[in-house]
Amino acid sequence: MNLKLILSYFRYLIKSNNLHGIHSPFVFNFIKDIIYGKNSDEEFEEIENIRLKLKKNSSIVEGWDYGKNKKSTELIKNIISKSAKSHKYCRLLYRIVKWKNPHISIELGTSLGISSLYICKALNYKSELYTFEGNSGLVEIAKKNLKKLNFENSKIVQGDFNQTLKPIIDKLTEIDFVFFDGNHHYAPTLSYFEICLSKASENAIFVFDDINWSEEMQKAWEKIKAHTDVNLTIDLFFMGIVFIQKRLTKEHFIVRF
Ligand SMILES: C[S@@+](CC[C@H](N)C(=O)[O-])C[C@H]1O[C@@H](n2cnc3c(N)ncnc32)[C@H](O)[C@@H]1O
Repeated sequence: MNLKLILSYFRYLIKSNNLHGIHSPFVFNFIKDIIYGKNSDEEFEEIENIRLKLKKNSSIVEGWDYGKNKKSTELIKNIISKSAKSHKYCRLLYRIVKWKNPHISIELGTSLGISSLYICKALNYKSELYTFEGNSGLVEIAKKNLKKLNFENSKIVQGDFNQTLKPIIDKLTEIDFVFFDGNHHYAPTLSYFEICLSKASENAIFVFDDINWSEEMQKAWEKIKAHTDVNLTIDLFFMGIVFIQKRLTKEHFIVRF
């Protein structure tokens, strides 16, 4: 963590709350049952075994690094430690998706497929996940991981989000859940948000990763909170949850997680 991030985290610790003072029954129950919900380790054993194997894998992945905008070669074990969401946040994603029971879900940033596996595990057999990734080497490994657990309701879309996202979203009727976990910059984050919003179903849920990662992301988060189609937001510091519900009174919560 850099110094600015540490200061932001202290501010978050001071401002954040748990269940105290939450008057809305909907928000109270969401925090109690979903944010603070519990799962057994056994439920995710297969996925965590895949993560463990990747952590020990010293093979090299070749592909395009969208952060550095150049060709990259990196060890799988380094990618998994740097990029994949921890099991705490993956379980939270699982609980949100399971509760939401979305028909169509979107994920921006597949990487090796760890968060995709958690999302797919929460989906019902009629639901679909479109997960987007630019790095071809990562796409190959993520495909194998999804196949290992027979998650056939997922499609990996390979290519630059700036080219791949809009054409796919345009073809869909409605989107119920989106996890934004790639290209954490101001303009792209807002652009992907607007593209997904154009097809968001009433009561859709958007989850943004790393909302405090940089000043750009903090600015993007404030802009998203202020959007007229955004009703309720929950800031967990490393993740932000957004409820899309047009024309309702806004409420923003900062919750200790
Ligand atoms: C943080 S990782 C995703 C981690 C994954 N969600 C998980 O928790 O297992 C972000 C991914 O987004 C991809 N990415 C970033 N910018 C992109 C872009 N403009 N187009 C396509 N992929 C991009 C990167 O290649 C990287 O693999």
